[in-house]
Amino acid sequence: MRPMHVQHIRYEAGVLFLLDQRQLPQTVTVRELRDWRSVGQAIENMVVRGAPAIGITAAYGMALAARAYAWQPDFLVRMMHTAAGLVKTRPTAVNLAWAVNRMMDRIRRGIAAHESPESIVTAVEQTAAAIHADDVSACRRIGDLGAPLLAEQSSVMTLCNTGSLATGGYGTALGIVRSAWRDGRLRQVFVCETRPLLQGARLTAWELAQDGIPYVLITDSTAGDLMRRGEVQAVVAGADRIARNGDVANKIGTYGLSVLARAHELPFIIAAPTSTFDLQQASGAEIPLEQRAASEVTEFHGVAVAPEHAVAANPSFDVTPAAHIAAIVTERGILRPPFDDAIAALLREPEALR
Ligand code: MRU
Repeated sequence: MRPMHVQHIRYEAGVLFLLDQRQLPQTVTVRELRDWRSVGQAIENMVVRGAPAIGITAAYGMALAARAYAWQPDFLVRMMHTAAGLVKTRPTAVNLAWAVNRMMDRIRRGIAAHESPESIVTAVEQTAAAIHADDVSACRRIGDLGAPLLAEQSSVMTLCNTGSLATGGYGTALGIVRSAWRDGRLRQVFVCETRPLLQGARLTAWELAQDGIPYVLITDSTAGDLMRRGEVQAVVAGADRIARNGDVANKIGTYGLSVLARAHELPFIIAAPTSTFDLQQASGAEIPLEQRAASEVTEFHGVAVAPEHAVAANPSFDVTPAAHIAAIVTERGILRPPFDDAIAALLREPEALR
């Protein structure tokens, strides 16, 4: 089973099938979800995670709700309630609100045009499927555009999981890795394990192993020493939300890696689809950063790794300032500093930057 082809999110006639990422790599379990509340719980509990994958899942959650409510007189109100319930499950990944808003737009259009409940449900399911398919195409494009940014025979460092599992398929930063490997540009990938939930160790290593891409798993604290030894040529990372000025919210640890990359004069590259940009936020200071339970730090898989009652902080994301970023690779083109003008131009005139 090659992850590029794993359908970790699959929707079929009123049932959403999700590969449970909490149990990887030991166990491959698929959950079957039939109502939007279970979809919300699956996002919150990280059965599925990664900004684009969360957006796609929420879109299917909206489709399940539409199936349940389209015949009710208060359909629109129920859908607005559903949308609000889904959006709050993970506050940092803006792809979630982006996908849910797109679904709401389609529902409002259907209601305004007096479409039948049946045709609204069909249209809503098609919209979710389109969000899913578009993300796969966007990732492939990001990979192909970004790969040439890496020098020949690069050893690249990454963190968290930005691969097939975090997207509709192929991945963003890991899409660049995949395309670079296919093109013969890549030597190996240093995968930061990514405490506390180990998305790097459990998920990225799993994907790379199945694609036969050479990787070395490292503890997060090994990153600086490898850079000092000259063993890393670039860092590639994903994004959960990108502000108007190019500040990037991403997995906790991204900021630290960006500081290390800067100290060692290495390119720090962000890869994200345009659905990750939030033009309503002027800078990273405005991005809501999710705080997760302290137990994720004090325990692993239910086993205590700290004394009882240990006080722990568990911010899930941090903000990397635009000044640390060499390039942001999107499906519509590569952005270079100064990012504020480049982002405005990209989202206004996509063709101009290709
Ligand atoms: O908490 P997670 O696992 O959802 O965090 C994921 C990340 O930070 C990813 O880098 C980001 O969502 C981009 S995934 C293409």
